[in-house]
Amino acid sequence: MKLLQVLTDIFKRSFIMEPGEKCKSIIEGLAEIRVKSNKVFYNPVQEFNRDLSIAVLSTYVKEYKEQKIGKTKHLKDCELHDVPFTILEALSATGLRSIRYAKEIPNITKIIANDLSAQAVDTIKENITYNSVGNLVDASHDDACMLMYKHKNPRMRFAAIDLDPYGCPSIFLDAAVQSVQDYGILCVTATDMAILAGNSPETCYVKYGAVSLKTKCCHEMALRILLQSIEHHANRYSRYIEPLLSISADFYIRVFVRVNTGAQQCKKTTSKLSMVYQCVGCDTITLQPLGATKPNPSERNPGQLKFCLPAAPSVGELCLHCNQRHRLGGPIWTAPIHNMPFVTRVLEYVTENPHLFGTAKRIAGVLSMVREELPDVPLYHILDKLFGRVHIQTMPILIMRSAILNAGYRVSFSHASKLSIKTDAPARLN
Ligand SMILES: C[S@@+](CC[C@H](N)C(=O)[O-])C[C@H]1O[C@@H](n2cnc3c(N)ncnc32)[C@H](O)[C@@H]1O
Ligand SMILES: [Zn+2]
Repeated sequence: MKLLQVLTDIFKRSFIMEPGEKCKSIIEGLAEIRVKSNKVFYNPVQEFNRDLSIAVLSTYVKEYKEQKIGKTKHLKDCELHDVPFTILEALSATGLRSIRYAKEIPNITKIIANDLSAQAVDTIKENITYNSVGNLVDASHDDACMLMYKHKNPRMRFAAIDLDPYGCPSIFLDAAVQSVQDYGILCVTATDMAILAGNSPETCYVKYGAVSLKTKCCHEMALRILLQSIEHHANRYSRYIEPLLSISADFYIRVFVRVNTGAQQCKKTTSKLSMVYQCVGCDTITLQPLGATKPNPSERNPGQLKFCLPAAPSVGELCLHCNQRHRLGGPIWTAPIHNMPFVTRVLEYVTENPHLFGTAKRIAGVLSMVREELPDVPLYHILDKLFGRVHIQTMPILIMRSAILNAGYRVSFSHASKLSIKTDAPARLN
């Protein structure tokens, strides 16, 4: 844990002013910000996170407005202005992200850049003036949750809320799921990867309401733990999420989810969640769904689904492959973690406007990988671990992929890991 603490400290101090230096200027995208203290957080490594968020929100604004107007094509400019699109950056630090949103995302009505630290808010105010975006960005000095609770009335809600905290976002989720508009978007970062990746399953339960496991596919598992946690918070208010894009990058994860209201839809949540059995010997993972649906035989509601409980447990006492015991983790989100048509539109936006993003190439690479991911197959294997388990020499990943395809199954990479194999092929052929 000590090493992790050191890494966290480096991450937090990744922007350091030299002794005697009074002010540091940082240019990113169309914004130039000035920071006068090491106490105000700026992390250059997160440029990818900010670029990606700008690409996602630029794509989303139009879709949101079209949905609100009830039209999908040929929106006139004046119609785009009729529907407000307000963004809350609840944890803003220098204001860099909000200022970039103001300068780089078309058709935004208002952005609130909030922080609890008085010093951060002073920096935000100076940067708003320095960048001449006072018409679009307001600085706010408040606790993020208090500010969001003040906006939970449907007429006051935000079209987009951005949560980019140090570590875990869970203390902000209850307020966030209540203060985002229907069809609005939540953008959430989590950087406490050690907890999400199984180093402290008991802490993971405390923070996210799910037990994490140490497994080779921990990055996607982390995304799925965060998604189930947001869904759980939303369900309390008869709201539910639809993941648009879920990314694991560097030392953090970032999810973009649409939020809607509907008690009937919330009933489908248990069918989107599973507990996770992990064999202690061979690491094989078996999912245990919490709920299921079947067609309703009643003639009155022929299209409606009937909810039922799936058979359990989905594994025997000992593992089929190696005769060892299982561990139990979860629940995790096991429905799709991306909306592929939306991912395609974001990718198009980035490839058509590469000059807008310092990290355009990386975004295009990651989104292209995401588009190839098998949408209905949760989690993945890691090539060398898989071969290590059956004690044979690792073969090139392309040959392994062809072998799976030849056997009649589907296969893809996961953006979350280079040597990943996502497949619907079972661990054992009967
Ligand atoms: C990781 S930084 C945000 C970085 C920023 N979003 C960016 O892209 O550069 C987290 C910020 O959250 C602020 N913060 C922590 N707890 C808060 C709370 N309860 N309400 C509002 N701000 C808070 C901290 O002062 C810090 O500036
Ligand atoms: Zn086993």
